[in-house]
Amino acid sequence: MAVAAERLGVLEAADPELAALLQGELDRQEHTLELIPSENIASPAVLAALGSWLTNKYAEGTPGRRYYGGCEWVDQIESLCQERARKLFSAEHANVQPHCGSSANMAAYMALCQAGDTILGMDLSHGGHLSHGSPVSFSGILYHAEFYGVSEATERLDYDLVLARAREVRPKVLVAGASAYPRTFDFAALRRIADEVGAALLVDMAHFAGLVAGGAHPSPVPHADIVTLTTHKTLRGPWGGMILCPESRAKDVDKAVFPGVQGGPMLHAIAGKAVALHAWSQPEMRDYAQRVVANAARLAEGLMARGLRLVSGGTDNHLMLLDLRPLQLTGRRVQEAFDRAGITVNRNSIPFDTASKFNPSGVRLGTPAVTTRGMGVAEMDEIAALVAELISDLDGEATLHRVSARARALCEAFPLPYS
Ligand SMILES: Cc1ncc(COP(=O)(O)O)c(C=O)c1O
Repeated sequence: MAVAAERLGVLEAADPELAALLQGELDRQEHTLELIPSENIASPAVLAALGSWLTNKYAEGTPGRRYYGGCEWVDQIESLCQERARKLFSAEHANVQPHCGSSANMAAYMALCQAGDTILGMDLSHGGHLSHGSPVSFSGILYHAEFYGVSEATERLDYDLVLARAREVRPKVLVAGASAYPRTFDFAALRRIADEVGAALLVDMAHFAGLVAGGAHPSPVPHADIVTLTTHKTLRGPWGGMILCPESRAKDVDKAVFPGVQGGPMLHAIAGKAVALHAWSQPEMRDYAQRVVANAARLAEGLMARGLRLVSGGTDNHLMLLDLRPLQLTGRRVQEAFDRAGITVNRNSIPFDTASKFNPSGVRLGTPAVTTRGMGVAEMDEIAALVAELISDLDGEATLHRVSARARALCEAFPLPYS
């Protein structure tokens, strides 16, 4: 592993204890099937930017308007990143400084409304994110949060129901986007709803930003007042966030990010984001986005063909939710058994779940990371078979050994890009 070996070599000399822990995590990533849909594998070039001397530089402000000297190079780096983001997503303005998706959302609310105002987001157990108004998040503490959910019959958004809810609560901000919704959003319908009730539309495309970048999901940019995203999920960049908006909102967004929510930008992360955005200008990445969706569709078909139930009957995007209620299983038990077999998934609530959030009735699966490793539809058939086999016999030692050997063989055939 040239990339990994070089980095570990430097670390081993300085801090063998930490180096051993990093080696352990590298081995885990190398030898397990990563099906958590919010995770991905950053390229060696992204790692090179992240692990650079840019981490030494303070640069509060924006390019050309800094509070520090010595910014001539980092100004160019941040401007390049902004320019690439604007171009890739056809956005008028990009702020590339948010440290993560949650701080991007925090800045977006600050740019769109006042503390105490009503925001209307998707219910957490229907797929929404903590930062869309959960009472344990800043978003539910600082703002008056109300929620909409999916229809019980279809487990999909019914935009008439969203409109009815919006008329009822008259939000200042309508929030769309989710962490666990396996379907695409109708952004034009959401725009009409926001307009009808006089709300701003905030779309959080944290999960599907890479699909939008690759043309495999409709873009919210023409419809939303503000779009937020993370750069470490389907976008395949470093850990981080980003905000896109029309020029008319640029000043408010920039002020909300700094000094509103954050201090100095992490320029090493911004350089990593620039590298990831550049990769999206290549045709391979468009192909990657299509393959993520095709792989998810194939995995979903394979699971359903083996009698497993998926929320809403499948997927349009990169993720799916397995409903464990018909099997009388719980998310935690399945997640832990899968960990033992070298298949990483995460337990997740499903719509109208009556189980606790700590041990919900679903498991979330996705294809971004395995697709980055180069796996295709044939491997999705194998993964569907492994998931179904293991789930049918969670405590069987022989099953565990068989499934983990096959999962490991798949990983060995499609290594991480760090060698
Ligand atoms: C829809 C959505 N928004 C925001 C976030 C928050 O991102 P971060 O963990 O980078 O704060 C997530 C993370 O999973 C997410 O799924």
